[in-house]
Amino acid sequence: MASYPKIVVRPPGPKAREIVERDARVISQSFVRFYPLVIESGKGAVLRDVDGNEYIDFNSGLVCLNVGHCHPKVVEAVKCQADRYLHYSITDFLYGEVVDLAEKLGKITPGKYAKKVFFGNSGAEAIEGAAKLTRWHMRRPRFIAFISAFHGRTLGSVSFTASKPVQMRYFFPMVPGVTHVPYPNCYRCPFHLKYPECAYWCVDFIDEYVLQKYVPPEEVAAFVFEPIQGEGGYVTPPDGFFQRLKKLADKYGILTIDDEVQAGMARTGKWWAIEHWCVEPDIICSAKSIAAGLPLSAIIANEKIMDWEGGTHASTFGGNPVSCAAALAVIDIIKNEKLLENSTQQGAYIMKRMKEFMKESEIVGDIRGKGLMIGVEIVEDKDSKKVAAEKANEIMMRCWRQGVAIITCGKSTLRIAPPLVITRELVDSALDIITSTIKEVEKEK
Ligand SMILES: Cc1ncc(COP(=O)(O)O)c(C=O)c1O
Repeated sequence: MASYPKIVVRPPGPKAREIVERDARVISQSFVRFYPLVIESGKGAVLRDVDGNEYIDFNSGLVCLNVGHCHPKVVEAVKCQADRYLHYSITDFLYGEVVDLAEKLGKITPGKYAKKVFFGNSGAEAIEGAAKLTRWHMRRPRFIAFISAFHGRTLGSVSFTASKPVQMRYFFPMVPGVTHVPYPNCYRCPFHLKYPECAYWCVDFIDEYVLQKYVPPEEVAAFVFEPIQGEGGYVTPPDGFFQRLKKLADKYGILTIDDEVQAGMARTGKWWAIEHWCVEPDIICSAKSIAAGLPLSAIIANEKIMDWEGGTHASTFGGNPVSCAAALAVIDIIKNEKLLENSTQQGAYIMKRMKEFMKESEIVGDIRGKGLMIGVEIVEDKDSKKVAAEKANEIMMRCWRQGVAIITCGKSTLRIAPPLVITRELVDSALDIITSTIKEVEKEK
């Protein structure tokens, strides 16, 4: 059996460097490239660069490949659909694949009521659509979102984002009516309180200091939240938070929009991360892994909420039949290959190994997450908890050079998000490299 990773030339190799140079000339440089990884192909949880290096993929693209790279069943479904027809806009005509997918999504989504689905192309489009839907249905103009959230980059979705100043600078004014409140980050509590003695002050704060002071609750259409903050640092709320938030929402008749773009589609060992807390949101937004890397997003809502009239909202490419064929295959693969279980098992193993390792490391401050969505926060030292962005960056770069493709999130958190098909053997190889690199960087301080 082949063993991974395999580094044959120090990355970036000559072919990669050539593409990096051409890219800089013709591609918008508004992106953040973590390192110059130029991909040639991928299979399962392993990817190959243009110079022949093979990496263990702890990124899953940008968390879009829960079923792995080029799963044969996805490739077959895509080819089969591409042979029949590529497009016939669902906004003006009809086809069966999109209906099949809506039915399947309804069945794997919490809530024993009938649901309806709106299909778009990206996470941002799903968030914007959900915001429009709730404004329309509720006839209420405002939203409550969370600090450190990431919900997308289009002008509507970025209005809900509050992750980094660079994402907002010079783009003001945003869509009006969004108020951001602190997210429950127990490692760095914004209120400097300790869980559980805090008694969920972060929820009461919204009621007492926001809704009762200056945002009239009867004007609020929805709370918009990630069940685990992704770009914000894989921040995982404590048990009980979402139950209380839902209670607060119900108190004022406010809807809940659950952004499962990154955390959903089995990533955390449940179809949707919010299920870890047994809460039924009114609306779920999905994208990224839903179609194994093809563009597709879905707004899944109670049919009583998705009651907007003809002409209110549409998207030419939304629910593209090729993407739908891939998404139908994704749902079958997750079920048939028991990927919910594999996410839970491999995730628990990684958690255990990394928590053991944390005991002997001075710079691993926190480990958090669910299933295969795990954040490892790097700090200058455990007492001060000072953010160690340079160290986290150095660890990430060195891991990549040794063949583990891993990136950071938040200010200094390594994100562990491999495809859910990953094996124990690959997990062990990757963790050996990650832990030895953390030790190396720690010694150099
Ligand atoms: C939680 C979350 N919501 C929304 C988005 C935006 O998705 P997209 O880039 O497909 O527009 C992202 C992207 O990273 C995300 O992580």
